[in-house]
Amino acid sequence: MNSMIDLRSDTVTKPTKEMLAYMMQAEVGDDVFTEDPTVNKLEQQLASMFSKEAALFCPSGTMSNQIALRIHTQPGDEVICDIHAHIYHYETGGMAVHSGIQPKLINTTDGILYPEIIEPQVNTDADWLTKTSLIVIENTCNRAGGTYYSLDNIKNIYHLSRNKNLKLHIDGARIFNAIVENDYTAADVGAYCDTISVCLSKGLGAPVGSLLVGSKEDIKKARRIRKQMGGGMRQVGILAAAGRYALKYHITDLKRDHLNAKKIYDVLRNVRYVKHIKPVHTNIIIFELMADINPLKLEEKLKEKGVRVSSFGKHIIRMVTHRDITNEMMDRLLFVLREIEKDHEKDIILNK
Ligand SMILES: Cc1ncc(COP(=O)(O)O)c(C=O)c1O
Repeated sequence: MNSMIDLRSDTVTKPTKEMLAYMMQAEVGDDVFTEDPTVNKLEQQLASMFSKEAALFCPSGTMSNQIALRIHTQPGDEVICDIHAHIYHYETGGMAVHSGIQPKLINTTDGILYPEIIEPQVNTDADWLTKTSLIVIENTCNRAGGTYYSLDNIKNIYHLSRNKNLKLHIDGARIFNAIVENDYTAADVGAYCDTISVCLSKGLGAPVGSLLVGSKEDIKKARRIRKQMGGGMRQVGILAAAGRYALKYHITDLKRDHLNAKKIYDVLRNVRYVKHIKPVHTNIIIFELMADINPLKLEEKLKEKGVRVSSFGKHIIRMVTHRDITNEMMDRLLFVLREIEKDHEKDIILNK
């Protein structure tokens, strides 16, 4: 039987045999006592990759983002972010719960902010205005379709943040997807932000984990908040080893995921059931269906054919390519996407 082509997210990636073998030989200790040698190595490795002083291993990207919001703000403050931001849409209102802050959303189509659009949104220090204390940019931006920032733009936003006395956090859940598409390094990005969160459990293929990277002082605060949130872990070197393996062997493979995403784009832009497809930049494909297509029926039909996708709002579908999509799966997928148009369009029309 053919295996399922699961494009719901790059978080569905499973550890390889080699990664599992590497995990099994990890040296471990109690990480709450900072005594897990593998976690310590991973934190030092990532800190030095991003030219920062320290890093903290967290169970999820949501936790590392939420900790960043806490260390950079005070209750009652506001954070400037794009309207597509993960911290706004998909962290279950965490910024209100954990930090008592509110978002100031900037409306873009591609998820990319620029200093000129941020600057007018920064409040003056009038008593009656909410204090703006933080800017968050998401690189790559998930909800906007995997778009990425140029280094110049990051630098300019960073300079604005210095001039306005604001902090800058990067949600870098997929920062390595941005890095393999650009001529900047992790160290370049780290030089122009206060903190960055980096996920290991998405396209890099580790089963769990995200790190918050920043100054010694910020990461010391972050450790305390992580414990308070219940994220202090014990012999977690087994998972940190998976991250170390992924950083060593899986970063360059992301490029292949991007090429696969472009192949899918090339098919979808020419089929009748797709009304509009966002340009593909990395590993995320977002498209809008024609008004007469029933998205649930399309999802069902795809599932029947061995393909899983995410519904991303009314009539919007998201697909994410990742390292577990084999060449054979790609051939099968492209065939199915064309086949639906030819043979099955009648089954996915609304009310039929
Ligand atoms: C941009 C972005 N940030 C943060 C996260 C949160 O990561 P996690 O699912 O590990 O909490 C995600 C998850 O998909 C994401 O896409």
